[in-house]
Amino acid sequence: MKEYIVALDQGTTSSRAILFNKAGEIVNIAQKEFQQIYPKSGWVEHDPREIWSTQLAVFTEALAKHKTKLDAIKGIGITNQRETTVIWNRRTGEPIYNAIVWQDRRTADYCAQLIKEGHLETVQEKTGLLIDSYFSATKIKWILDNVKGARKMAERNELAFGTIDSWLIWNLTNGEQHVTDVTNASRTMLYNIKDLGWDKDLLELFDIPASILPEVKSSSEIYGETSKELGSKSIPIAGIAGDQQAALFGQMCLKKGMAKNTYGTGCFLLMNVGTKPVKSENKLVTTIAWKIGKEVIYALEGSIFIGGAVVQWLRDELKIIKKSSDIEKLATSVENTDGVYLVPAFAGLGAPHWDPNARGTIFGISRGTTDAHIARAALESIAYQTHDILKAMEADSQTKIKELRVDGGATENKFLLQFQADILKSTVVKPEITETTAMGAAFLAGLAVGFWENTAELEAIWKEDKRIDADKSNKLTKNLAEWNRAINAVKYWSQ
Ligand code: G3P
Repeated sequence: MKEYIVALDQGTTSSRAILFNKAGEIVNIAQKEFQQIYPKSGWVEHDPREIWSTQLAVFTEALAKHKTKLDAIKGIGITNQRETTVIWNRRTGEPIYNAIVWQDRRTADYCAQLIKEGHLETVQEKTGLLIDSYFSATKIKWILDNVKGARKMAERNELAFGTIDSWLIWNLTNGEQHVTDVTNASRTMLYNIKDLGWDKDLLELFDIPASILPEVKSSSEIYGETSKELGSKSIPIAGIAGDQQAALFGQMCLKKGMAKNTYGTGCFLLMNVGTKPVKSENKLVTTIAWKIGKEVIYALEGSIFIGGAVVQWLRDELKIIKKSSDIEKLATSVENTDGVYLVPAFAGLGAPHWDPNARGTIFGISRGTTDAHIARAALESIAYQTHDILKAMEADSQTKIKELRVDGGATENKFLLQFQADILKSTVVKPEITETTAMGAAFLAGLAVGFWENTAELEAIWKEDKRIDADKSNKLTKNLAEWNRAINAVKYWSQ
């Protein structure tokens, strides 16, 4: 009988299930989108029950489409949108509030107050993170403070908190397991990434009772089995990692200094920095990449809020292209941007600038500027932002990256990849299978159940599709200097 590993990939806009065979090939994919809830400006919520129902539905669908019996599934790997916060009643399993999504900014003022009070250093020292409403801690506090009776229930040990991985495993095991892994824990702003435990001082600072927290496990081990309600045969749940860490693993960035960039709506760059956490002096965050056995690997991370979303903006708001894929033809219809720079700070600037008040700006427009120049400037802005983060990573880690492994929708764009290589003066590598997030989760689960023996076997599965070397004749120093001036002007304007 053929055997498989299933990756459950619970993302911000859809739930997916992907079936992998032993050769690491994708045998089947099922995907369902779910509702985005925006109760107020800056607030973003999901219905946790819908997250669970769509995840369960795609799991069943992926198996059914391929006529796969539960017996053939040797393990489940879970990967998820990170930081998103769910609190539920331990007895009934019912959430007491919607999931507060990582993008939600309702606690921004409280975070600003914490920074003013001088807590930044301690938080960074302990968690590797910067104080921001992005991470789970202030979202948990908000639910406990604002949902009627929640604090009292928490004190009576009636509530459980979890990131999406915990919520899924609670449901998959019918309430038997309340667990998470180190990668997800490291995004809560409550987990000490050096001591590897929930941090008492931070729990006190955020006024969060330890009783609601899940047990923190490694990223590759058997956490429990699917309950009988899900089918006659129980399947071990054997891998967990937050989606960006899973992608770093799925890209086989196993050695110190290896880095990946996922070009989605935003971009997430992670660099493996080895077995010791590296403190960022350049406003990046330090996070746990994974823990396998006793070994913990750390990563530096930087996120860009608007990556591929700038192309959607050209399509949906400016309407200068019909489909996202049209942008390459339009952008390459001109030789260069003719001095146009687009800083897509539509939602503020992320790493390494962290300016929440920044706004998008186009510089250098002349009477001869056309939609093609703007399209090209938009694509280049994705590469410039990636450049800025990578340079910060190189400075923090004191390692020069040899190549950048890339995945995500925008990697279909040949112009973007070449420009990225040129601006970085490094090679850009695209793998054959670009579903690296799901692949990482499947790999972690497969290792735990012996489906794959070791990482050497996984490295042999990972295959390169395209290697794009930097065109050394392309002198872009002047462009970088101009991009920097544009960024500085955007920051000046936001004050
Ligand atoms: O930190 C947020 C990140 O995990 C979300 O990823 O792919 O669901 O947008 P994605």
